[in-house]
Amino acid sequence: MSLDIDALRAQFPILSTKVNGKTLTYLDNAATTQKPQVVIDALVDFYTQCNSNVHRGAHSLSDEATRRFENARSNIQTFINANQREEVIWTSGTTEAINIVANGLAQKLKAGDEVLITEMEHHANLVTWQQACLRAGATLQVAQINEIGELDVADFTAKLSSNTRLVAFPHASNALGTLNAINELTSIVKSQSDALVLIDGAQGIAHCKVDVQAIGCDFYVFSGHKLCAPTGVGILWGRYSVLENWPVWQTGGEMIRTVDYQESTWGVLPHRLEAGTPNIAGAVGLGAAVEWFMQQDLDALKAHETALLNYAMDKAKDFSGIQLVGTAKEKVGVMSFLIDGTHPGDLGFILDQQGVAIRTGDHCAQPLMKRLGLGGTARASFSIYNTFEEIDTLFVALNKAKNMLA
Ligand code: ALA
Repeated sequence: MSLDIDALRAQFPILSTKVNGKTLTYLDNAATTQKPQVVIDALVDFYTQCNSNVHRGAHSLSDEATRRFENARSNIQTFINANQREEVIWTSGTTEAINIVANGLAQKLKAGDEVLITEMEHHANLVTWQQACLRAGATLQVAQINEIGELDVADFTAKLSSNTRLVAFPHASNALGTLNAINELTSIVKSQSDALVLIDGAQGIAHCKVDVQAIGCDFYVFSGHKLCAPTGVGILWGRYSVLENWPVWQTGGEMIRTVDYQESTWGVLPHRLEAGTPNIAGAVGLGAAVEWFMQQDLDALKAHETALLNYAMDKAKDFSGIQLVGTAKEKVGVMSFLIDGTHPGDLGFILDQQGVAIRTGDHCAQPLMKRLGLGGTARASFSIYNTFEEIDTLFVALNKAKNMLA
């Protein structure tokens, strides 16, 4: 089935908006994606038809809110092929999901233990483990990348040891676009150690079919807003046998079984890791987003994204003065770059004047930038609804910026 890009774009109302008097060219999808009308409608419907708290009420509205909330959980279970719906934990996003795991791990780590990450981490998948290790006197190991931004698998393998308790790596790098071979990496870890594996799926979930059972990892985490869903909601998926006794994160309502003044006991999954009133509307919105994705031709969407990336990278080769940062063989739709004699921040500003939205800076990856000897980059990132014409617009805008700043 070929992709009807006009019909697809028509479902995302914001794409016809104007910015600084110019038609929006939105190329900041690694930061957050735009939302289709069905997701916006799911939020409006929730607040206009059945807003209520979940799992608590003795009334019809609460029953309906609970039904939609739990139905959304089932949608996520199907989308990532989780074995049990209890393995799907609502969080505020990737960062909170990693913190839940790191908080639990910190209680289990002891001096001499190790956590292995990579040089391509977003701060969320770095600082969190660094702090857990500091609390426990454990050591943070970092697997190297090569010059084009690919993981050095030999170094990754060599850094696994009998002391490794957890290995965390990104499905895809937000700053470079590198797509990691997550099944293979997980299998290396599992064959050579007893370590748990956590995959930061923030940049992978929107671009790749994810089957958590096939990957074989222990945790896969992602944010809704990178997947055309609202901000403030995300998923911690954890293998039931691991999550079942994972130390609780927050305490309070919803997550308990019994409470007395001197002691309390915890409830069962998924609620024991979901203290307090959750982001109910956000969860319903994320459920609607994955339902929408499951109705699309995912192979056609993936092929379109790959074609966009290849088109942009090819155009860059003919653009004088550009330096591409991150040219791994396997990439998601992220093009990081520098232009001779210009500062990324100035580029971003001038592009914005032309309606072109990109991100500039260190992309929450300061150690990675340091490793590459850079202060930051400009980054254009593509999604399913982008077009080849928009990439042409990007390069016209870049040419203008280059001439202005030269
Ligand atoms: N982590 C997001 C990005 O890469 C915000 O832009």
